Amino acid sequence: MEVSETDTSADEAVPYLDVSGLEFSYGEVKVLYGLEFQLAPQSIGCVMGRNGVGKTTFLRNLVGLENSSAGKIYIDGSDATKLEAHERACNGIGYVPQGRQIFPLLTVEENLLVALEAAGSAEKSIPSSVFETFPVLHQMRKRRGGDLSGGQQQQLAIGRALVTRPNFLVLDEPTEGIQPNVITMIGEVIRKLVDEQGMTILLVEQYVDFVRKYSDSFAVMNRGRFVAQGSVDELDSSTIHKHLSV
Ligand SMILES: Nc1ncnc2c1ncn2[C@@H]1O[C@H](COP(=O)(O)OP(=O)(O)O)[C@@H](O)[C@H]1O
Ligand SMILES: [Mg+2]
Repeated sequence: MEVSETDTSADEAVPYLDVSGLEFSYGEVKVLYGLEFQLAPQSIGCVMGRNGVGKTTFLRNLVGLENSSAGKIYIDGSDATKLEAHERACNGIGYVPQGRQIFPLLTVEENLLVALEAAGSAEKSIPSSVFETFPVLHQMRKRRGGDLSGGQQQQLAIGRALVTRPNFLVLDEPTEGIQPNVITMIGEVIRKLVDEQGMTILLVEQYVDFVRKYSDSFAVMNRGRFVAQGSVDELDSSTIHKHLSV
């Protein structure tokens, strides 16, 4: 087979997520300043940074819950900048919000079914892969969400995002307030989703150890700007001390 001489795509992979010049304000208060951000396909990227710098706002812009005032968001080669949140969800984005936000009075099963309904999914039953990923959700399926432990609720929140089989999973501080054994489990699950199912994953994460262990790339935000970005082996202690420690 002939290979075109102009084909150099192998070493210049197109980013899965490509954000340029992204700006956002809450009313008069500007929060995001011309963000540039790329994430390679089938990789894990972590956004880090102190409280209040704009990490959640960035994710909400990516998933379409906020609308940027300037800039472009390309996801898997298509312009998603003007798409509504439900359209982005249909295009394969799954979102796990900060603080989990499950329905405490609904059972585990109902929480998962509601997510399926909300996405307008043709599928009417919870994919077995969700229970294979998080067996505890199957054991607890008749319990109310509010009766689960924090770690179990986080698994439910991630499971809820997985019912629609997303290609791109966005998680906001999934390890916040969670026991170490569940943190490890979440790290292993997301690594497996990337390595075995070809997903691309972006998360906000405060734990440097978690980032080093499970992520491929990192980006540090400070006051609405990315101040350091790179592959995870470039995450050095001077960056951490300058932008992350209190
Ligand atoms: N709904 C909102 N309305 C007005 N200001 C907000 C809102 N949400 C967040 N902010 C402000 O925007 C800034 C960034 O917040 P956020 O994105 O939540 O930061 P982080 O996730 O990094 O902690 C903060 O100053 C916060 O107070
Ligand atoms: Mg936040």
